[in-house]
This record gives sequence, C-alpha cells and structure tokens, in this order.
Amino acid sequence: MCGIVGYVGPRVAAPILLEGLRRLEYRGYDSAGLAIQATNGLEVVRSVGKLDNLSRALEGRSLLGTVGIGHTRWATHGRPSEPNAHPLVSGDVAVVHNGIIENHVALRRRLEAEGVVFKSDTDSEILAHLVHRALERGASLFEAVKATLGFLQGTYGIAVLAGRQPDRIVVAKNASPLVIGLGEGETLCGSDIPALLGHTRQMLFLEDGELAELTTGGARVETLEGQLVSRAPRRIDWSPTQAEKSGFKHFMLKEIFEQPRAVEDTLRGRIRVAAGEIEGAELGLDPAFIDNIDRVYFLACGTSYHATIAGRYWIEQLARLPAQTEIASEVRLRSPVFTPRDLVVAVSQSGETVDTLAAVRTAREAGAYVLAIANVVDSMIPRASNGALYTHAGPEIGVASTKCFTTQLVALLLLAIHLGRRRGVLDASSTASALEALMAVPSLMRRSLERSDEAYEVARRWHNARHMLFLGRGLGYPIALEGALKLKEISYAHAEGYAAGEMKHGPIALIDDEMPVVVVMPHDRHYEKTLANVQEVRARDGRVIAVVSESDQVASTLAEQVLRIPDAPELVQPLLSVIPLQLLAYYFADLKGTDVDQPRNLAKVVTVE
Ligand code: F6R
Repeated sequence: MCGIVGYVGPRVAAPILLEGLRRLEYRGYDSAGLAIQATNGLEVVRSVGKLDNLSRALEGRSLLGTVGIGHTRWATHGRPSEPNAHPLVSGDVAVVHNGIIENHVALRRRLEAEGVVFKSDTDSEILAHLVHRALERGASLFEAVKATLGFLQGTYGIAVLAGRQPDRIVVAKNASPLVIGLGEGETLCGSDIPALLGHTRQMLFLEDGELAELTTGGARVETLEGQLVSRAPRRIDWSPTQAEKSGFKHFMLKEIFEQPRAVEDTLRGRIRVAAGEIEGAELGLDPAFIDNIDRVYFLACGTSYHATIAGRYWIEQLARLPAQTEIASEVRLRSPVFTPRDLVVAVSQSGETVDTLAAVRTAREAGAYVLAIANVVDSMIPRASNGALYTHAGPEIGVASTKCFTTQLVALLLLAIHLGRRRGVLDASSTASALEALMAVPSLMRRSLERSDEAYEVARRWHNARHMLFLGRGLGYPIALEGALKLKEISYAHAEGYAAGEMKHGPIALIDDEMPVVVVMPHDRHYEKTLANVQEVRARDGRVIAVVSESDQVASTLAEQVLRIPDAPELVQPLLSVIPLQLLAYYFADLKGTDVDQPRNLAKVVTVE
C-alpha cells in the first residue's frame, strides 16, 4: 500500500507529482521521493517521514523537467529510511514500486554474485538493476521493463524512467493497481485515481499482466506476451474525497472490503506452497530458539488483544505449547514472571501502544524472547523486540481496526502452524491442509462480503437498540468480544461480548424481549452447546441474531435473523465470522449518524497510559 504518481507532458512535473502524492498520502507516509528527467540526467530527491519533508527538501532546487515519477511509501521490506525510499535507482534508471516481490532474495543473491551493489534493503531495488542491465544490452525501456517482469514472482504496480529515453514512462501492473490518466497533450499515471483527478477524468485502467508506454501523445498498452491492447478510457466523476475512499462512504467500510487483499499480502512470500511449508525466515523468529520454548505469552490491548485470544487457542491446538494472553496494561501493574524460555508475542497494529511497549520492555528485561506482530514497519514495539512479523495490511485510516485485526489473525495462525511443524506436532499432511485452509481465506472473505446486505438488514432492524450482547465459544469467543467492541466504539451503543458458556453465570439476567443477542456459531465442535444457549435466550424472549455457516439448517431456523458465512474449516472460521460483525457495527453506526472513521474520544495510536 504505497502511492505512485507519474507525469509526461509540457508542464513542470515536480509540483504536479507532489500534489498527486499529497492526495495519496493516506496510502502510506513513512517516506517519499521524486525522480525527474533533467537536461543533465535524472534528478532524484527522497526524504523520510511525511510529504512535508519532501517539499522542504525540494525548496530552493529548480527542478524544471517535464517528465517524472513520485512515490509515497508504507514500508514492507526495509525500514523507513532515505536509502529505502523510492524512487530506487540503478545507473540512469529510476523505479517506483508498489507490491511485494516474493523472489527478491534469490534475485538479489544472483545479482550480487555478479557484482551488483545494492544500496537499499528493499525488495524493489531489484527492479532498477534488472531494467538497467537490460538497457545496457541495448533494449528499449519498454523491452527492458518487459524482460524484467519475466523474472518476477509477486505483485507490482511500477513506473520506470530511464535517462536514455527521457520522453517516456513505462508502467506495469500485477495485482497492485495502476491507472493511466489521459490529458490534453499530457499523460499521467498513478496507483490510485485521486492522484490524477486534478488533471483529467479520462482514465485507462491497466489490467494484470499488462504494461504501457506513456508519452505526451498518450499510452500504448501491451500484454506481457506482446499483444497490443486497445481499451477505451473511462470517465471518472468522483470527487477527490470520494476517490480517496475508492467510492466507499467511509474509510472503515473501504478497509472492511480490503480484507481479502490485505490477507493475501500477509500470506505473500510466507508459504512454500509446493512443499506445504512456512518460510520460517519470514516470521522474524530465530529457528534455534523454537526448540527451547516453554510457553507462549501474548501481550496486547483492545482489538489486538482479541486477536491474541485466537492466537492462544491456535498455539495450544497446533503447537501443543502452554499459552496465555494478557492485557498489556495489566501486565505492567503486576509482577509478571517471564523466563528466557518464554516466547512473548506482542501484537499491536500501530506498534506504538504505550502499555504494550512497556510490557515488552519488562519481558525483555527478564530475558524473554519477544516477537512483535505489527502493521507499521520499524515502529517502537518491533524495534524494542527481538524479531518482527509484519502484517502488511497497508495503512488503516478508520480508527476502528478491521483489516489490521484479520491480518493479525493470519499472522498468528501462521506462527502457530510454523511452531507446530517445527516442533513435530503437525506432520506434512496436516500442515498442508492447514495452509490450504488459510490460502482459501481471501476468496471466502470475498464471498462473505457479498452478503453485506444481511448485516445491513440487522443494523436497520436494531440501530436504535441501546444494548446488545455478543456470545461465542472457542474461536467464536474472541469474535464475540470483537463484535461487541466494534459496535460500542463506533455506534456508542452498549455492547458486551461473553464466552457463551458464561451466559448463565450472569448475563442471562439481562435477557428480555428487547435484548438483541448476537451468537457466533458457525459449524464447529461447539455447535450443539452453543445451540443450547440460543434456546435459553429464546426461552427468555431474547432476540437471536446468529452468525452461521452457509449450510446451517438448525440455528438459522431458531434465530430471528441470520448472518451467513461460507462453510470453512474451523481453524479459519474467525477470519470469516468477524466480517458480518464488522459490517453490522459499521451500518449500525452509519444509520445512527455517528462519526464512523473518527469516533469520539478514541485515537488510532494510543501513546498515553
Ligand atoms: C479498536 C482498536 C483498539 C486497538 C488498541 C490497540 O478498533 O483499534 O482497541 O486495537 O488501541 O492498538 P494497537 O493494536 O495499535 O496496539
């Protein structure tokens, strides 16, 4: 999730690129840069931090070139730093890249063996070197980019400049978006529509496996196989604000719908499909340590804490290790006992939550090995830890966490499978089936999202309710907690999540004919027991809304309303059952008219105790 913009035309490119990047800052903002064709070669300016730093770096420089590319970065491979900022350069070639090159380690080793010196830790730099080498052999820029793409596995949206063909930009796409803007005597490109809207509304959308050469005369598009593509541009009438949200009303809704893509990015490069193995090196965990682990101890707050409850269940089930999860703010107050044989897993989307950070420091002081699971690369918690496993969900703008939660779940499940395999609990075939289930999640999530109208109907029916109860068992329990938290934080309705087995120990007293009770109960080993809870709620005139599997025949007839999720193995059900609850919270809040993306009193990064 980074932002790309490019310009070829008669006007000075730098201000156009900078303005485009400003419109894309929501996609990433840890570093930024520009490359401009100047009379004496490429001019490249990069800086760490927000775009204002790049603006300042440009002050006093007269960059008058009319062809250029720009990038705003959200780090995945390599920390935010000037050398890791894009454009990445090799000779007279400059490249900006969104996406993840999965085979970058192998490609890098090969080039290094041939004497190429890398200046960054990014996976993207490989592109600049490969294009440069092809140009040196006499290829045109277009052919050089095409040849380079043939070496790559992974995802990309790229824009490339070369000093020797200064009148053009070559762009290409595979899974990461790339849009071409057709203006009068000028052509633009961007990873997203907002970057281009100030200049043209005629947009040509590149498809996967296509590349294009952009000049002042327009765009020539070809497939990687060399077939010419002729596609009519589309007129886009969105306002810039609508475009930032890809047409969704709120960032939160956009982020809910981004989850299949986010999960794909968390998994990318981490699974060796043919071998049915997890790429251990990608998990930030020292392999020598794994065999000595006595206990896994999770630390987190809020939504991230809910993810760790599922993490705990997975570790116990798949790795057969003792596991516990603790609210980080509580751990700080106690005298927790950590040992050097503890694997402490600190989960935090922002990587900055002060309570989690303090608990991490306590664990490290006691000699525990700390692994951070975070979304923000090189943030405080990963820096304070021994290793980091990044979720790669891209920036999350809505204060209520959605895609960061599901990608945390994926990271935790990967960790549990990896530990289980390394420790000999899982054999090759059970590892392969767990990985298969995980890899099917993005497409199952897409199917879940297609049922958003069911969540809307429940929200429409209940958005004036003042209380709501959420129940679940096993892996449904953290999802009940998360459903309740999502609802309360954005709609301000009072909601409580409970382990279904605890219902008779207190919350049952709340149930009457005005109490909506959401029961998370896809087909799993606890189904019959949870069904008994449904009967108990009904017997007290409570109103049951059941989250059930698509093929459900029983609970769906007892419940007043149902939210269906695709049938899936139990292991991955939480990744699906949370989706209707996120949507329910969203529609509920939107119908009430609250500020969904910035609910009152809440902050995205909690840096106070
Ligand atoms: C709720 C939410 C919060 C965070 C919590 C921890 O939607 O986002 O509950 O989960 O503040 O934040 P991180 O994960 O950044 O440590």
